[in-house]
Amino acid sequence: MNENLFNPEYLPRWQKGYEPDEFLTHFEKIPLRIYPDAGEASVFIAGEIATLIHSRQDQGKNCVLGLATGSTPVKIYDELVRLHREEGLSFRNVITFNLDEYYPMDPRSVQSYHRFMHEYLFDHIDILPENIHIPDGRLKKEEVWEYCRQYDRQIREAGGIDLQLLGIGRTGHIGFNEPGTPVNASTRLVTLDHITISDAASDFFGEENVPRMAITMGTGTILRSKKIILLAWGEGKAATMQKAVEEPVSDLLPASFLQNHPDTLILLDTAASAELVRIKTPWLLGPCEWDDTLVRKAVVWLCQKVSKPILKLTDRDYNDNGLAELVTELGPDNKINIRIFNELQHTITGWPGGKPNADDTTRPERALPYPKTVLVFSPHPDDDVISMGGTLARLVQQGHQVHTVYQTSGSIAVFDDDVLRYLDFVNGYSAIFNNEISGSGEIYDNVKSLLGNKQPGQVDTPEVIEMKTAIRRGEARAACRFIGIPDSQVHFLNLPFYNTGSVKKNPVGEEDIRLTVEILQQIKPHQIYAAGDLSDPHGTHRVCLDAIFRAIERLKQEEWLAGCRIWLYRGAWQEWDLDQVAMAVPLSPEEVHIKRNAIFKHQSQKDRPLFPGIDTREFWQRAEERNHATAVLYDKLGMAEYQAIEVFVRIQ
Ligand code: F6R
Repeated sequence: MNENLFNPEYLPRWQKGYEPDEFLTHFEKIPLRIYPDAGEASVFIAGEIATLIHSRQDQGKNCVLGLATGSTPVKIYDELVRLHREEGLSFRNVITFNLDEYYPMDPRSVQSYHRFMHEYLFDHIDILPENIHIPDGRLKKEEVWEYCRQYDRQIREAGGIDLQLLGIGRTGHIGFNEPGTPVNASTRLVTLDHITISDAASDFFGEENVPRMAITMGTGTILRSKKIILLAWGEGKAATMQKAVEEPVSDLLPASFLQNHPDTLILLDTAASAELVRIKTPWLLGPCEWDDTLVRKAVVWLCQKVSKPILKLTDRDYNDNGLAELVTELGPDNKINIRIFNELQHTITGWPGGKPNADDTTRPERALPYPKTVLVFSPHPDDDVISMGGTLARLVQQGHQVHTVYQTSGSIAVFDDDVLRYLDFVNGYSAIFNNEISGSGEIYDNVKSLLGNKQPGQVDTPEVIEMKTAIRRGEARAACRFIGIPDSQVHFLNLPFYNTGSVKKNPVGEEDIRLTVEILQQIKPHQIYAAGDLSDPHGTHRVCLDAIFRAIERLKQEEWLAGCRIWLYRGAWQEWDLDQVAMAVPLSPEEVHIKRNAIFKHQSQKDRPLFPGIDTREFWQRAEERNHATAVLYDKLGMAEYQAIEVFVRIQ
């Protein structure tokens, strides 16, 4: 397996031999390091914090930390707790100031940053309670101003913040300093941006429950910190990070103020670095090592830049757009053009399972064996059809034995209303036919009163979770039936990491891996399809992929695995870049219709999914528009014109 799939492989030659944070490319205005994943970066930061605490202890001084909440710092806190438990790191000389708290907010509420900090860190270390400072969301409005002055004063009196941790919102906010904040703002009550509200919606079980305001440390307060480390993980942050680091300072993107801070370090995982010049267009920085992926990346980029198809690109186009080195090393133009044209042309196939009795030397999939056993992993019960519904239908039509494996129950994304609707049916059915559905009337009354009194954010009872799970299972079966996958080939893993009953999930665990190993051993597929969609805002896709990778690692001695290809799809949240694509399956208008109807079978997710994110389109609309956009891109590059295309990356 290519474990480096998400690694930045394109560092220009002149960068090698440097510590990445020792230089600034002429586009990057803040020192920056890219890590393969958030885990590794978090361990590094926790180590930095521990070193700082130790050095302050040696000097007999306090260590003042500025702390953030949200999904980003979680692994840092886990590592700090580990360092405390296993390596004796003491926090008795540590004073903390948190960035923010929603307003109004009860500190006991599940969404409170007080509760967050205690659950993730403070309850597990030896910090003195009087050294913890987190803005108070219970104050009366008229008390807030003076309280904020005091918060800033307390920071000054503690000697200022030695190390401030920051996450970044998609608006470019640091703390809750939203676009429009001046550089010298002090701690205060602010109104949240609508994007921030939408991003927080899943934590609050609906946008309507998100507080509109927050108390936040000001930009001026943050910028007075002696050292700042800003962290960002995932594709969802990539565009914002590019602006913060490479574009001019602007109050429309408060994180860009960090460009003028004397000691800020930015740590990104590979996904969050995708839009930086050094990753996206490294040829603009200096000489490159022109491997196959980079050449394709450059040609696709150039076509879009000069609005020409591949075969019409000229030496002049290459030279005028920073690609002189490429034509000099691998040119002339025509040679590169034909090579990349053929490469991309060969990604297109109407036979995702391989075409029997055909020469397969330039096809993405082998002709044999035929038919193939295909295992499609789907993190939630609808990702398979949303992301690869057209390909799924083709695989079935072309005679392959397709199994779908739903990794999680998807239960938290079902509206309470839907539970009642189904219960109404069961109740009505038993009344009409005088049928004995044991205790259905009682269950109906109980659940109805339970859901009627439910508070936002309240975790469902196991009974309700079961019902929601059953609703999604029924929908997944209906979609499979529509596509022609028999019930016996539809599997539900119900991975335990997902079953916390709340939006926050556990990391991958032993049982998740065991269940994944078991299904792989049972099916022994020739092809695996899995979601490589890492920017799912709730992290479920990420954990599901992790479970698959770990299961495969355990099975690597198995003979069947050597003959198995693994394809990654993306769907609901974003698409692969063409330089990574190894298979492109075109869909006719009729097939687009089939896909749409298969997605419609997931009725509980239609009209308005519970967690839509910022994109208000329905899933079928997003999928259709994305697949159409890919087809348009292929067309513009000079390939045939299709209605839609689903694309896949191969990792084994
Ligand atoms: C949290 C905070 C915010 C978050 C930012 C990113 O204390 O101040 O600025 O750091 O919204 O949130 P996550 O980490 O959840 O993506």
